[in-house]
Amino acid sequence: MTVKEDVLFEITFDQLETGLRGVPVGYCVTSKVDPEKGLTYVDHPIVEMATWMPERVIFLLYHGREGEVDEVKFLAQQLEMRAHLRPEVVKQIEQLPKKGDPMDLFSTAILLAKLYEESGDYKEDCLNIIAKAPEIAATVINHHAGWGKTPPSKPALGYMSNFAQMLKVPGHLSPNFAEILQLFNILHYDHGGGNLSVFVGKAVASGLEGMYGSISAAMNALAGPRHGKANQNSLAFVQEVLEKVGEEGSAEQIRAFINQKLYNHELIYGFGHAVLRVEDPRAAIFYDLATQLFPDHPLARTALLLRTEVSHVLKERGKVADPYANVDAISGTVLSAAGFSYPEYYTVLFGLGRIVGIAIQILYERTEAREGKGTPLLRPKYIYKPRKP
Ligand code: MLT
Repeated sequence: MTVKEDVLFEITFDQLETGLRGVPVGYCVTSKVDPEKGLTYVDHPIVEMATWMPERVIFLLYHGREGEVDEVKFLAQQLEMRAHLRPEVVKQIEQLPKKGDPMDLFSTAILLAKLYEESGDYKEDCLNIIAKAPEIAATVINHHAGWGKTPPSKPALGYMSNFAQMLKVPGHLSPNFAEILQLFNILHYDHGGGNLSVFVGKAVASGLEGMYGSISAAMNALAGPRHGKANQNSLAFVQEVLEKVGEEGSAEQIRAFINQKLYNHELIYGFGHAVLRVEDPRAAIFYDLATQLFPDHPLARTALLLRTEVSHVLKERGKVADPYANVDAISGTVLSAAGFSYPEYYTVLFGLGRIVGIAIQILYERTEAREGKGTPLLRPKYIYKPRKP
């Protein structure tokens, strides 16, 4: 069969039930996930971002190029100016029921902010939601956890330093906690155009719903255990392994435990990825950090053993397309070792980061794509299939 040069993909009936895996549906101008090389933000490997300030990375994603120092400073001032939530919004968030999942409060809080603060202009609202997200997330977490009133936002401290000072985590935190939060935030900004949360955000915005409503929907997409909540489950998995094999657990014991789990058809969290076919470079950054900062922490030691042993077992079994660790395998362990052992909030932290990429991708699709006409209303085709009697 001859394939026309401009045919990107041919689809078979089998592929209708694969969650659109690999099916190209549009352009992404912010980042790319290469199966072999991992994530790049505008052609910069993610590992470079580990030493950048958040505002510099946001500039890169927003403008599609590196900013000069004064340009980054100007963007930082823009974010600073827009950062404060209206007191009515804070008050409403603090009246939300505490018993729900924190992600439900987070997406509701974004809708509450919409009611009071959305301008209706995608460009304005892109910067507004990025600027306000730290105060929204901190207010949601402090309120839900019962840690009391959120300290006043001080955006002049910088994007993530302000978030760290607003979070009223009780107990002892590692002196590196603020840096760890910042790294976590930057590494989660974006992951190509097709991850579920950004896809949902762009789909909702394609109907011309505004920025805040689209982001709120995207956060509901992120909340599921197959997507953002996997980072919580992954920490629980590391804890379970530590409990079962103990602090002195050997590689052999870990392999036996994993094999038993697979035999029982139980899930192994934090390994494999829809696109990647190598270890997630974001995971490698966190593994290095764990080795450097918490070499003797039992959870970190277990996670580091799992890094090699799970891959070994999965490769041996040979059925898995990607037997390597993804970012979730270690990010929660690092947060926990740093003193933030509240996994119920890890997906909110993921969302706080991912809002940056989602908002910028929505802005592109609504205002720049197709020579400024914007991408059309999403309306894919489903093939009618009568149910089996
Ligand atoms: C991720 O950050 O790994 C994702 O959002 C999952 C994906 O890329 O599908």
